[in-house]
Parts: sequence; C-alpha cells; structure tokens
Amino acid sequence: MRTVGRIPKNFIDELIARADIVEVIGARVQLKKAGREYKACCPFHNEKTPSFWVSPDKQFYHCFGCGKHGTVLGFLMDHDHLAFPEAVEELAARLGLEVPQEAGVDTSARRADEPLYELMRRVAAYYATSLAGDARARAYLTQRGLSRETIERFSLGYAANSWNDVLRRFGAQDADRKRLTEAGLIVERERGQIREGERHYDRFRDRIMFPIRDNRGRVIAFGGRIIDAGEPKYLNSPETVLFHKSRELYGLYETRRARSNLKRLAIVEGYMDAVRLHQAGIDYAVATLGTATTPEHLRRIFRLVADVVFAFDGDRAGRAAAWRALQQALTETREGREIRFLFLPEGHDPDTLVAEEGREAFEARLASALPLSEYLVRELSQQSDLTHADGRARFAESARPLFAKVPAGVYRELLLERLAQVVGLSAARLEELWAAVRTPAAPATAAPALRAPVRTRISAGRGGLVRQAIARLLRYPAIAAQVTPAERTGLDASEEPGVALLRELLDDLRERPAQIPAQVIQRWAGREGAESLPKLLEREEVMTDGTAAAGEFRAALVKLSDQAAGKRLEALEAKSRSGGLEPNELVEFQQLIVKLSSRDARSG
Ligand code: UTP
Ligand code: MN
Repeated sequence: MRTVGRIPKNFIDELIARADIVEVIGARVQLKKAGREYKACCPFHNEKTPSFWVSPDKQFYHCFGCGKHGTVLGFLMDHDHLAFPEAVEELAARLGLEVPQEAGVDTSARRADEPLYELMRRVAAYYATSLAGDARARAYLTQRGLSRETIERFSLGYAANSWNDVLRRFGAQDADRKRLTEAGLIVERERGQIREGERHYDRFRDRIMFPIRDNRGRVIAFGGRIIDAGEPKYLNSPETVLFHKSRELYGLYETRRARSNLKRLAIVEGYMDAVRLHQAGIDYAVATLGTATTPEHLRRIFRLVADVVFAFDGDRAGRAAAWRALQQALTETREGREIRFLFLPEGHDPDTLVAEEGREAFEARLASALPLSEYLVRELSQQSDLTHADGRARFAESARPLFAKVPAGVYRELLLERLAQVVGLSAARLEELWAAVRTPAAPATAAPALRAPVRTRISAGRGGLVRQAIARLLRYPAIAAQVTPAERTGLDASEEPGVALLRELLDDLRERPAQIPAQVIQRWAGREGAESLPKLLEREEVMTDGTAAAGEFRAALVKLSDQAAGKRLEALEAKSRSGGLEPNELVEFQQLIVKLSSRDARSG
C-alpha cells in the first residue's frame, strides 16, 4: 500500500465525514429504508432475504449474513474492486474534491515519464509502418491466420532486420539515445565491442512486434516474436520505469476497449493466444507475459471481474503453471467469485485450438472448466490413494497449508466441507484437527516476560468493561472530549485485556476529534490489535444517545481505574503480610484505601 502514504490522512478523514454512504451504496444496491437504517439483499453473497444494513449515523455498512462490513471506502474497494487510492479518487471525484498528494512524488514522476511514453508511441507507430512495408513479415502473420483488422486492433508491427534502424531514426542526439536505452529499445554495448563507432544497437531485430499497453492505452513495452525459427522465440522489453512485467497483462487494454460491460476474463499464456482468441470473438482474453500468474495480476483481474478462467496448455509446463496459478489464487477466493481452470488437449494451445474448432466450441470448453476447488481436490487426490486411511490422512496434510490461504467467509466454509468429504470426516472435526497442528504447544521454558503481550487484543466476545467502553467511544467519538484528565490518567493503571487499545483510541480522539464512527474505523483500518473495532461498532449496545453514552463511558473509565486500584491494594496487602512494605509502598497503600473508601461512601 505504497501509495496510501501519499494521500494525507486528514483528507481521508474529511472524505469520510463529507461522503454519504447511503448515496454511494444506494447507487449500486437497491436500498430500502428500515427505521433509522437501510437494508438490502447483500451484494457480496447470495441471499433472498435482506441482511445487509447501511447506517447513515455510523456511516457504516454491515451484513449479518456474510459478515462483510466497512466504511464507504471499504465498500468501494470491495464492490467496485478498487485499490485504496482508487477508491479515494472515486469518492473525491464524486464530491468534487481533488486528492492532495503528500510530497508530490507522484506527480513529478509522472511528468518526468511523459517523453518516454511519447517515444514509445512514436516507435510503435514506426514498427507498424515497417510491417506494412515488409512483405515477408506480412506473409508470416497471414500464415498465422491473423486478419488485417486484428493486426490493426493490436497495433502489431515489425522491427527490421537491422542493428541500428531504430537507433539511427530515433537516436540522433545523446539525450535521445539515453531515452531509447531507458525505454529498453536499444542496448548499450560492452566496452571493446563498439562497432562502426556506435555504442548502442537495436534490441529488437527482425521480429513481429506486439505493443504492450497500459490501462490508458499508452505503449509501455514490447514483445517481439522471431519470424520463423530462432532464439529466443519471444523477446520482451526489460523492466523499465514504464514497464513491470509481473504487473502487466497483455491484451487488457484491448479487452476493456472491446467490452464496456466486462464480466469475465480468460487468462492465457501467450501473445498469440490472446490475439487469436480476440480475433475469434473471445475478446475477453488476456495473457501473462511469459511469467507465472502473480498476486498483482490477480488483484488487477479481480478489480475488474468476478469470473476468471485460466486456460493452460495441456503439456507438463502448462500443468505446472496452472498449479502455480492455483496457489496464488487461493488467497483471492471468496463467495461471489468464480475461478476456474481449463486444460487444453495435449499439443494444443488456445491459438491452435480456437483456429481448429472455432469460437463456440472453445467457449463451451471455457464454460465447463474445472472450478478451483475441484482442481485442488483432483490434484491432491492424485498424490494419495484415497481408499486407505493413510492416503486420506496424507490428502488432509497436503490440503492443510493450501486451505490456510483461503480467506474467511462462505467460500472457505464450502471448501472445507468439500475437503472434509474427501477425507471422510466432518468439516468441524477436520478443522479442529488442523487447528491443533497449527498451534504447537508453547515451550515450557518461555520466559514470563516474553509471554506478556505488548498490546493485548480485545475480542468482541470478551473484555466486559473495556469492550463496552470502546463500543461507546466508537459509536459516539465526540465523547472523548468530555473525559476529564483525571479519568484519563486513572486508566493508566489498568491491565485489563484491550485497555491499551482503549487508551490509544481515547488519546487519538482527544488529539484529533472525530464526529462519525466511520472516521475512527478508517483511521484504524489495518492497524495491528485493532481488528476487532468494526465488530464492536456493529454490536447493538443499549445506548440511547450520545449523552447517555458519555455518562456510561466515563463511569466505565472510573470502574476500570478502581479495579486496578483494588488489585494493587490486594498485592500490597499480601506483601505487608509476608515481608512488610517499603516506605513509599506504605504511602501508596494509604492513598489507595482513601481512594477506594471515598468511592464506596459515594455509591453506598
Ligand atoms: P510459447 O512457447 O507457448 O509460445 O510461449 P506461443 O505463445 O505458443 O507462441 P507461438 O504460437 O509459437 O508464436 C508462451 C509465452 O511465453 C513467453 C511469451 O509471452 C509467449 O507468448 N515466452 C515464450 C517468452 O517470453 N520468451 C520465449 O522465448 C518463449
Ligand atoms: Mn502458440
């Protein structure tokens, strides 16, 4: 989340305060008014009766069915598949605000890249012109079955069979050659190998050129295929400031241009596969660039669509690539998403197959591709003999680390059931056994000091007073300002679970007041130890209004302080009985007695 740091926190706070979550969600989901809140059928899981609630007071949404919850920014990220900075952009644009950039790194970098994009554009245009003028290159593409329209749609080109065609045409000045090198279009020679006085040479020679474009259609790199035979078959641009191979998907720009209403993507391995599928009418195909599917690819994909089919060659390399893709995809599984795997017949790739059998047959294959869960089961059961207990135990053992990557939710539960079915145990029992493996017994020699947690997490179900106090503070963050310094200090002695979080929240809100619960949730999103905050906000506490909550909150602080004092008193008492107290401890002892007895007198 590198970019998050560039958006000032105050701006995010302001966005949350200004935005109307009901309006934003209402534009995407049909909301019905129900009392002070709104309800709908949850957009994140399948249901017939509404359990999805939006609260205008809290500026928070929550589904009682699948447990999804969050602020307006969280909703945009989840629902529209946006990254955090994109969700901020989207919301800001809606409100007519401009996102300020901290330090301005981003904008200046963008400006500096401008000439590189321009250079790439001009070189791509030149390659396209060269293709038109080269009969052999054109014949090759015809022989590969590509139509003129397809060649144009993908702006295919040709790099001449020359060491310095691009160099001479675009690299007249030193500065130009520097830029060409930066763009990865020419390569600098080693010292001692300088020929004809030229220190550089063209990277791409006698190749069909596939421009790789970013979301905005700007050329950021090339893939170049050798005509006929030769090594390497495909040569890609190196990593440059414009191009990060592990992030890009070839054909994504063309896909988005072809389809305004994109529902699914087919992920293939090769340039030709993507191009050929588009030509056949399967214009939702994109290719990884000769790399394994990366988490970045997957994030990009699922920001756009919920339905993905990986199509791999039927050979061993294809199967290995599919298994790697599965491992990456596990963390991205969730209800509402469909991830499937298509294995082509041995000796075929999507290019040859679609050429042979056409669009309908190929789409039928895509439609009947193996769901991720079934692929997982199939692959793991091939490694073990499931007719024996030993084999099923081995299956369970190999499934455990894979299953652990699946995020909590409906999908995880369903997958667990499926795996349990194979193992021959109940889902609950299998999970129990796995949990036992995951938490090895703590070594008996662990030093007590090390066991004391730095910050205790508070769980929604436990923690009594602390939990109640945090729930009130979250619901009415403005009450932080009403707490007296003495009430705040009284909290320091408490060692209740979760009290550290309560202290931090309170201090933060006294320093930077917030008006709406969602502001607090957003500020603390992703912070360690604060995972339980949204859950606490969702709980329907008996709180009539802010005034009542303030009173209860302050009373809770006093109680926590008294509890701590009581414990300290007991400890001192015990010590006085066994060995006697130091003079300062004696003073403390008397102060504690006064403090606690005055309280008793008041309440009694
Ligand atoms: P393949 O070897 O399967 O080639 O490589 P292909 O896509 O079927 O190509 P054609 O049909 O022979 O033209 C699949 C992908 O792996 C990357 C490329 O992205 C290619 O499209 N690759 C392959 C390379 O980057 N370099 C290579 O030398 C070979
Ligand atoms: Mn091929």
